[in-house]
Amino acid sequence: MDKLVIEGGVPLTGTINVSGSKNAALPILMASILAEEPITYTNVPRLRDIHTTNKLLSILGCPAEFEGDTVSVRPCDLKPEAPYDLVKTMRASVLCLGPLLARLGEARVALPGGCAIGARPVDLHLTALEKMGARFELEEGYIIGRCRKLKGAHIYFDFPTVGGTENLLMAATLAEGETILENAAREPEVVDLARFLIACGAKIEGHGTSVIRVQGVPRLHGCEYAIMPDRIEAGTFLVAAGITGGELLLTGCPWEELDAVIVKLNAMGMHIEKTSEGVLAKRRNGGLRGTDVTTQPFPGFPTDMQAQVMSLMCLAEGTSVVQENIFENRFMHVLELVRMGADIRISGRSAVVRGVKRLTGAPVMASDLRASASLVLAGLAARGTTHVQRIYHLDRGYERIELKLNAVGARIRREAE
Ligand code: UD1
Repeated sequence: MDKLVIEGGVPLTGTINVSGSKNAALPILMASILAEEPITYTNVPRLRDIHTTNKLLSILGCPAEFEGDTVSVRPCDLKPEAPYDLVKTMRASVLCLGPLLARLGEARVALPGGCAIGARPVDLHLTALEKMGARFELEEGYIIGRCRKLKGAHIYFDFPTVGGTENLLMAATLAEGETILENAAREPEVVDLARFLIACGAKIEGHGTSVIRVQGVPRLHGCEYAIMPDRIEAGTFLVAAGITGGELLLTGCPWEELDAVIVKLNAMGMHIEKTSEGVLAKRRNGGLRGTDVTTQPFPGFPTDMQAQVMSLMCLAEGTSVVQENIFENRFMHVLELVRMGADIRISGRSAVVRGVKRLTGAPVMASDLRASASLVLAGLAARGTTHVQRIYHLDRGYERIELKLNAVGARIRREAE
């Protein structure tokens, strides 16, 4: 396994191009199962999770090929089984459940196991698909789903689950009649999926609001589609500008989708502005100040930016409080940040961060994707050398992060552990 060795203390200056969104690309690629014609996707990030998705699509009978930032998928003979070997490395594999049931009336998808950031069950996906006529059994670790033709239904989600909304949205496109998804997730990635499905001939209204209406159609055709930029990668680079006291211009950077993050970073003493060339981020004169952050479904502050902003809080004057409302166990980065000199106390779902003057380099262990990013950010600001071990997770979600950061002045080496 690789580790990143970071020599901290360099203000990052220059331009970084934001890659395509991982969390939009995963469901949109999975939606290839629904179409009866070839599809070409552009702006696809070259990440481990995307390679895993392409492998899974190929096993399910839709061969997927990557070239540059383009993925081409050819529909062939669909097969219903998503094997455990792939599903265990990527929980989002469960997103093939809705499309397989809609196309084949059958799906055998390995049950995703627990994961570092909480239990993450898929009960909301299954109950909603049952309302559309599917029946599920659990056999030898596999969810076996069967249905005749899926039927439109009125579904109310107890929680606006992102993956659940995506699974049901995909399933509903080919169902008989109308499906209404209430208390649906409003995340920009759900909106991107809906736009893609519409480009393939689906009839969808209300995406981006909490009530989505889908009129089933008999079939979906192919199309060419550009994946939206990654708001979490972009947000991570905004923090990199602030934590190192540098100045970064992000090209291809989302803006409205990052609103909640930008408001908080500005409140902490950053200056983030949209220009004709991209989004410019730097620290205002006067240093960083603490603030409070509560993670919420979109348009609230995203849980996927919580760890990165906490790294910034570590070096901000005063006290910050972080309340994590989406996942029950998403403070794995805290003890590692403490090893670098941070002052953080956890109490239930809250973390209290008291700003310190400096962080110092240390060997630290990455435990999940965004936790890894927070440790890289802390390492960029720390005095001395930080070894971020087990960066397997980082490679699942950030495209060539060390190359992108080195191009704006960082000193990061990738070494075998
Ligand atoms: C997606 C994102 C992830 C992000 C999360 C919340 C992808 C590939 N991943 O994950 O990066 O952090 O949204 O914005 O897009 N839950 C249940 N039962 C269910 C489904 C979810 O209890 O059937 C719970 C989960 O355990 C979790 C919460 O609901 O505590 C949020 O989950 P959900 O919105 O579904 O997130 P994901 O789609 O897994």
